[in-house]
Amino acid sequence: MIIKTAEFLMSNSLVAKCPQRDIPEYAFIGRSNVGKSSLINMLTNHSKLAKTSGTPGKTQLINHFLINDAWFLVDLPGYGYAKVSKKLRAGFSQIITNYLKKREQLFCLFVLLDSRLEPQKADLEFMDFLGNNGIPFVMVFTKADKLKPTELERNLANYKTIMLESWDDLPEIFITSATSTMGRDEVLGFISKTNKEFDLSSSEV
Ligand code: GTP
Ligand code: MG
Repeated sequence: MIIKTAEFLMSNSLVAKCPQRDIPEYAFIGRSNVGKSSLINMLTNHSKLAKTSGTPGKTQLINHFLINDAWFLVDLPGYGYAKVSKKLRAGFSQIITNYLKKREQLFCLFVLLDSRLEPQKADLEFMDFLGNNGIPFVMVFTKADKLKPTELERNLANYKTIMLESWDDLPEIFITSATSTMGRDEVLGFISKTNKEFDLSSSEV
């Protein structure tokens, strides 16, 4: 897919105020500093579209970007940092929970995981929450440039083994690097395929 236009549309904390256009939406989530904003910039080829930072907690609102005037990319706050109610076991904020449960346009959530780390409790619990609530998601490993290929392979195999202890099937998996652009074609190809399914279903109505 060719990205012709990518524009920032709005930031807000209320799902009711998110853009109302009925077009496919893909949101990026994961622990703070995992590389959500960087991945959005890499995919859109706009180095300053989403604000990135070495300090965790940079993104604190729901940020909508309109791509090719046809679909939305959404940058969400990291769930390892934003102030969190202790009652929320998975440890993510009310803003995110409301967004995930209420946003009907959300076609697929991209759960970003740092490829250098062992599976983290917060991430595993978060994916359990998604499964229990029927929220479609794929797994995206980030910062792959920071590992040797053998280390990357070992970490991925380990992650899959641990996931399969509680899941029957694994979701689709992407391996990315915002610095080397690894995984760009694969992620954009997935979005393109999903957009086409939406086009087909809306033309049948
Ligand atoms: P919050 O908004 O705070 O939740 O963080 P975020 O998940 O949006 O992370 P962000 O994109 O701001 O990146 C955090 C840090 O990791 C920055 O210093 C980035 O330059 C760095 N980073 C992100 N992706 C990559 C990558 O693929 N490779 C390398 N080497 N560094 C990366
Ligand atoms: Mg961010």
